[in-house]
Amino acid sequence: MQQEEAFLASWLERMTLRQKIGQMTMVERLHVTPADVKENALGALLSGGGSHPGDNSAQAWVEMNDRFWQAAVADEDSLGVPILFGVDAVHGHNNVQGATIFPHNIGLGAADDAQLVADIARATAREILATGLEWNFAPVLAVAENCHWGRTYESFGSDPQRVAKLGRRYVEALQEEGVMGCVKHWVGDGGTKHGMDQGETTLDWRAFETTHVAPYYPALEAGVLTVMVSFNSWNGEKCHGHRFLITELLKERLGFAGIVVSDWDGVKYLDEDYGAAVRKSVNAGLDMFMVPERWREFMDALEGQVRQGRVSVSRIDEAVRRILRTKLRYGLFDSPRPARRAGVGADSFGCQAHGDIARRAVKKSLVLLKNEQSALPLAPHQRILVAGKNAHNLGHQCGGWTLSWQGESGNGSLDGTTIWEGIRALAPRAELSADLSGAEADPKRHDVAVAVIGEKPYAEGLGDIRPGDEVLVETGSRVNGLLNPLEPYAKSLKLAQTHPEDLACIRRIAAKGVPVVALLISGRPLVVDEELEAAAAFVAAWLPGAQGQGVAEALLGKCDFTGRLPLPWPGSGVGAAERASGHEPLFPVGYGLSLAGAKIGSQK
Ligand code: GLC
Repeated sequence: MQQEEAFLASWLERMTLRQKIGQMTMVERLHVTPADVKENALGALLSGGGSHPGDNSAQAWVEMNDRFWQAAVADEDSLGVPILFGVDAVHGHNNVQGATIFPHNIGLGAADDAQLVADIARATAREILATGLEWNFAPVLAVAENCHWGRTYESFGSDPQRVAKLGRRYVEALQEEGVMGCVKHWVGDGGTKHGMDQGETTLDWRAFETTHVAPYYPALEAGVLTVMVSFNSWNGEKCHGHRFLITELLKERLGFAGIVVSDWDGVKYLDEDYGAAVRKSVNAGLDMFMVPERWREFMDALEGQVRQGRVSVSRIDEAVRRILRTKLRYGLFDSPRPARRAGVGADSFGCQAHGDIARRAVKKSLVLLKNEQSALPLAPHQRILVAGKNAHNLGHQCGGWTLSWQGESGNGSLDGTTIWEGIRALAPRAELSADLSGAEADPKRHDVAVAVIGEKPYAEGLGDIRPGDEVLVETGSRVNGLLNPLEPYAKSLKLAQTHPEDLACIRRIAAKGVPVVALLISGRPLVVDEELEAAAAFVAAWLPGAQGQGVAEALLGKCDFTGRLPLPWPGSGVGAAERASGHEPLFPVGYGLSLAGAKIGSQK
């Protein structure tokens, strides 16, 4: 340890204040050149959702990071501290063309298999290394308490113990494989009023710790190298300026020695005066600042605060010491340039073995909620009519954070199998409804139908279900500093209101006397009482990713259903704005049926 401290001290001695502030600055790749990296000694870069170089091939990513890396360390006038590059690889290396796309975390919560999560983390790490990057802004350790929240699907669910267990295994496997983890968002993002993204979480310390803080403990013990602070507030105080949560609790009581990083411009919401906002956040204990575009303004503001004596040099040195120590412990100072190390995972990028892990994850994530008329399992000889807007749509299957921030639609940009393609491969007499409406259903031609229904992709606040603007004003939910000018995705948890075409599809087919297996593609539980009633069988498939074949294998009985609800499933009694978890659920956490109709495991 003495050697480490001497190493850190030697660097701090030779760095100017401006260079130290540069190390505390993380910039989005579109708003910086290699020359900027060198001149400002920038500490890190990121790609925001969907921000990709060139042809978005793995090689294009390697070349991009190699240029930034060389600017940081190779030129004679470089400071010489290696630069980090971070991405949101939240369900595989999802920004990059050809990467393996796994189910989103909500489905992994339903599978509740820690070894599977570790396998996914390892595969994801190998694909990140194949693109020459070092840092993954994952896993989310949110405890999703209200399925109005647009980020419910990024969570492992509403059970703090399950979140803690799966989160730890993800971190251990990711970092063992050589990629820095980042647990987020510290803290309480899943507990906001009405499930409003970036909103207000109001809980006394005991409840707050038990539900939202405790799930971080195992990952911190496992040595996660970075923590990302949350946009939400706790009891009226924004986390980005919360000295107790960041310094007293995370750093002092819990002994976290890594980097505490802000979220996307998370600092600016602290105060109308940017200098004051920067001061609050730095003095609260944040070490590195994700300032994607206005990074020069940030550096100037922080330098000004130090020169005015409002931020101490010792606080700057503490932050930079953590940044350098984390880079040292991760091995960045001894690492070859990205162009020399990317070969590590090159042959594993999008490989069959990773696809097999994804397919296994899909099968384990499915939750069977209803199975009557012996609808399931389907049989290979059956004449199956496949309908519904999500039956043949890879983009919808994958959800948000896939090639773009808000996700894709259609099959043109992603590699994988749709649910229709998976069914056709196993049941040659299957037929895809011409316009996906199921209008051609005919008991003389069809033994059974599969209606693939549900949501379209979204991410973050755009996925919030905001019953009405009054909720927005009440929670003070803000995006980019404004009262959420973004058009929210939906106004109701009731699928029949948001997507009436789905209930119509099921009823249209059932009315012809063809039993319907309904398959819900969604980032969260939704109120589907009417759809459940109209269908013979009902499966919650969450956001399964690119392996639609895995869904088909479960429907055709290649395996039994083992998935169990990772959070309560609301019934029609849930009011527009109440916390879905505050009501008697239609199905409790842990609910799930086997093909034989038995309840799986102990119903928690
Ligand atoms: C986003 C998200 C965060 C993500 C970051 C970088 O706003 O809140 O989860 O890691 O920005 O994309």
